Amino acid sequence: MKAESRKDKTEALMQILRRIDQGDNPQTLRAEARRLIEQITPRDLARAEEILVRGGASSHQAGQLSVAFLLMGVLEGREANLRERLPADHVLRIILAEHELTRCFLADLDSLVREIVTLERMTDTSMEFMRLSHVAEHLHAMLEHIEREDDVLFPALRQHGWSALAAAPGRAHEQIRGHIDSLLRLLGTFRAERFDAFKQQLALLSQTLIQVILEHLHEEDNLLFPIALEVVKEPEAWHRIKRLCDEIGYCGVHI
Ligand SMILES: [Fe+2]
Ligand SMILES: [Fe+2]
Ligand SMILES: [Fe+2]
Repeated sequence: MKAESRKDKTEALMQILRRIDQGDNPQTLRAEARRLIEQITPRDLARAEEILVRGGASSHQAGQLSVAFLLMGVLEGREANLRERLPADHVLRIILAEHELTRCFLADLDSLVREIVTLERMTDTSMEFMRLSHVAEHLHAMLEHIEREDDVLFPALRQHGWSALAAAPGRAHEQIRGHIDSLLRLLGTFRAERFDAFKQQLALLSQTLIQVILEHLHEEDNLLFPIALEVVKEPEAWHRIKRLCDEIGYCGVHI
């Protein structure tokens, strides 16, 4: 690309990012973002972000504006429901299905914890404790899902030049790992005579864990994956991702 046309693209990007920031008409912005997204590279967007930061924006604000831009461009004229757009053998369909299963386990965890906090006593052979351990095992199996995203999906985004996109989900993965570990440790050290303290810790931990995971799933379903589909265009790249994921295996269904 010639230096001159690259400068024009950066300039066009800067303008659209500023207009998104100012809350310009979303319909016009979406159409323009759609056109522009076909012509730019990750480096053009990174350069536009840099200029915004030099102009006084925080890097968080600049990053959010470029995600908003990508999303406007990606979703323009498209069916918003990702699942319905993908063939059943697409790797993102399996990942979305695992998200759905995870939501079911989180809902189970939520109602189970509500039930447990009303109990007077519980032992490690009580039905409630067994059910809690079972849900915790399913959530623990979710770590495989996280590893697959960390080891296969995010590196593919980085290879295509979109390192920044995977940064926030990667940080959320760290948090989720920590919360799931804490839940397993809490169950592993359960003592019936310390049930009151256990109930308090369990209620607090499960509330945080549920909130963090639900937010993360929402972000991947509605932001990261639609954008990933747009920036990783070659079907062979998705086939390669699926092959690697198949080798690692899937979670949530085999316990
Ligand atoms: Fe994830
Ligand atoms: Fe995920
Ligand atoms: Fe199970």
